[in-house]
Amino acid sequence: MKPVLAITRRLPDAVEKRARESYDLRMQDGDDPLSRDQILDLCKDANAALVSVGDPIDAAFFAALPQKVGIVATFSVGTDHIDLAAAKANGFVIGNTPGVLTDATADIAWLLILGAARRASEGEAEVRNATWSSWRPTHMMGTQVTGKKLGIIGMGRIGQAVAKRARGFDMDVHYFNRRQLPEDQEFGATYHPSIDDLLPHCDFLSLHCPSTPETRGMVNRNFIAKLPDGAIIVNTARGDVVNDKDLIAALKSGKLTAAGLDVFAGEPNIEPAYRDLPNTFLLPHLGSATVETRNAMGFRALDNIDAFIAGKEVPFRV
Ligand code: DGY
Repeated sequence: MKPVLAITRRLPDAVEKRARESYDLRMQDGDDPLSRDQILDLCKDANAALVSVGDPIDAAFFAALPQKVGIVATFSVGTDHIDLAAAKANGFVIGNTPGVLTDATADIAWLLILGAARRASEGEAEVRNATWSSWRPTHMMGTQVTGKKLGIIGMGRIGQAVAKRARGFDMDVHYFNRRQLPEDQEFGATYHPSIDDLLPHCDFLSLHCPSTPETRGMVNRNFIAKLPDGAIIVNTARGDVVNDKDLIAALKSGKLTAAGLDVFAGEPNIEPAYRDLPNTFLLPHLGSATVETRNAMGFRALDNIDAFIAGKEVPFRV
């Protein structure tokens, strides 16, 4: 008999195929976000669970999860939807998928940088709505990216990949990280020992820090005030790192030229004002959304589960 695996969301075909080969699957028919009780119901005779970003894997979930489940593997590198302390206290193993979504997410950060700077949303809307009147010297002028200063908060794998790409744009890159990186991982970027020290050096700022009690709401009025006037912020990390009201106020006042956002507090129910601002470039959390990357994430999540079920060390255990 195959072990039972509960899966909360539909997975790429290749990942579901591999999962089906090794496990007896418990899945929903559709692809809607499930409540805690619905996930617990899927898990009732499972040996393992594969969950996703946004699933409510909180203390109440672990309190009610049958011990037989053993491992909860998330289809994500981020674990902010999981109460890790409660998992540990209740004896559950947690696995995640670091490493495989670095390039896809760095690419999206760059799409946001360019899209926000070059007014891609406004431009695309004009073409689609047939409101483009003519080529003209003053038409929709944006901000030059090449040669500017780029600040990075969080110089992990994704921050480094963003810094590496910035070299192609002749940018002067600065970063804050909890510790300075060895030179070969800095990609020519200048280290700043504090965020306050970094912010004045950011014509562009790209966020790559996890959502933690220290970073939640970090991008607030005081933080924004320390950026150069006209700076551009992009976020592919987590939405709740930003104080939405303060960011929106800065985008309205002109303190910030633009923002490129792939992640939002409370997504998909985002702060509605973002939609009305012309100087936002908005994506629906697509950082890792390439076929190659989503397959690799799924395989990594299954590797974690396979190892646990086989009594081996879980390769990407949180
Ligand atoms: C993650 O893995 O945490 C990402 O946000 C998914 O794109």
